Amino acid sequence: MSKGKTLDVYYKNKHVGTLAEMADRRIAFQYDREWIQTGFSISPLSLPLSNDVFVPDERSRDRFGGLFGVFADSLPDSWGELLLDRYLNSIGISRESVSTLDRLAYIGTSGMGALEYVPAKNTDFDVIGSRLNFDEIARECNELLSLRPSNQIDILYRLGGSSGGTRPKVFLSEQGKEWIVKFPAKKDPNISGKREYDYSLCAKKSGIIMTETKLVDSTICEGYFKTERFDRQNGVKIFTSTFAGILEADFRSPSCDYETFMKLTMALTKDNYADKEQMFKIMCFNVFTHNNDDHTKNFSFQYTEDYGWRLAPAYDLTYSDTYWGEHTTSVNGKGKAILDDDLIYIGTTSGIKESICKEYIREIKANTQDLAKYINGKYPNRKDLSVKERVLELHNEKPGLIVNSLPQDARSVKPQKVIASRKK
Ligand SMILES: Nc1ncnc2c1ncn2[C@@H]1O[C@H](COP(=O)(O)OP(=O)(O)OP(=O)(O)O)[C@@H](O)[C@H]1O
Ligand SMILES: [Mg+2]
Repeated sequence: MSKGKTLDVYYKNKHVGTLAEMADRRIAFQYDREWIQTGFSISPLSLPLSNDVFVPDERSRDRFGGLFGVFADSLPDSWGELLLDRYLNSIGISRESVSTLDRLAYIGTSGMGALEYVPAKNTDFDVIGSRLNFDEIARECNELLSLRPSNQIDILYRLGGSSGGTRPKVFLSEQGKEWIVKFPAKKDPNISGKREYDYSLCAKKSGIIMTETKLVDSTICEGYFKTERFDRQNGVKIFTSTFAGILEADFRSPSCDYETFMKLTMALTKDNYADKEQMFKIMCFNVFTHNNDDHTKNFSFQYTEDYGWRLAPAYDLTYSDTYWGEHTTSVNGKGKAILDDDLIYIGTTSGIKESICKEYIREIKANTQDLAKYINGKYPNRKDLSVKERVLELHNEKPGLIVNSLPQDARSVKPQKVIASRKK
């Protein structure tokens, strides 16, 4: 492949292949010859192991900045993108001058999952959890989300600039494990961290596999949700890709049914029964607990040399609404008023016995009574937002729409608070 604007992709120090930007802003990919002999297909539906030059289709420009989904998975979503834009702004680089390949280069070795990009424009930032003041981070995130300048932009960027999702996050290393701590979005009520933690306990009780979860104390809200990273194990990066990445699907709008999710799970995991059951349980849990934001980036697969493709542990299980008041992923064609029979249809057509589907439904329904206070509206599930906050929320749903109106240059703000000390 010709060397114009290119970036090399690595996995565990092995050269996977090369990305090259084309004139129309789409980004082509070609595997390294040795990888074709010794590696695995990093995106089985779009990038089979062959010597071809692969070009993503036209829609990739809107969905993934011109990339194949598996590489877009390395890029942050709206929060990380906002941080990078503000950070670059603070050092005099404009958003318009930064291409998608530049953004991947800024991610470099620090992206979610295991892919790394060379030459990188970043250096890893080693953060020790005990030195962080989480309430101060939450306040600074709130400043940023309110379109005000923050004097901690470089620290926030290094702490969570490569994270996915809408909500502010930071990464930590603690007790030999890697963690993500989530902070509320503007629309989230004070109980959102505790609520996600309670959801995680209930999901685990219902047999859903999740990583370790904790609730971080706070003096200003009911705590922050903390979860162990499944894309890091004992210091090793685990290859991870979201359903959106594998399917090249638009995660911002309803594009799938759980039937597609089941078929994809069966195809990738070679019909591994445990993964099918997991998928079934997560679907039931989401339906019974009003987790309507069940979009294609809220499910992932992992690939390891030992086990091949497997469903990743569940994440982002919490009370959530959508603008249109229905599940983003439909069940048997329905986004709301979903019946047990719809769930059973998805289960049985994927090969799970009807009696087993019914047993899981009964068990998960009973367990989710623990979450009744959230589901039945005793607690506020959403804050009333000002017009400005609604505009920002729109920005989070449709990144890039209003970012140009953000205040200029955070460097002019005098440092007042310290949320973490930089490790030299
Ligand atoms: N425990 C975890 N280990 C590894 N990656 C994770 C974990 N939890 C979440 N992620 C990744 O981080 C991304 C964002 O996390 P999450 O979905 O919880 O955040 P969010 O901001 O609430 O998302 P959304 O925009 O869907 O509301 C996920 O899409 C997933 O790729
Ligand atoms: Mg999410």
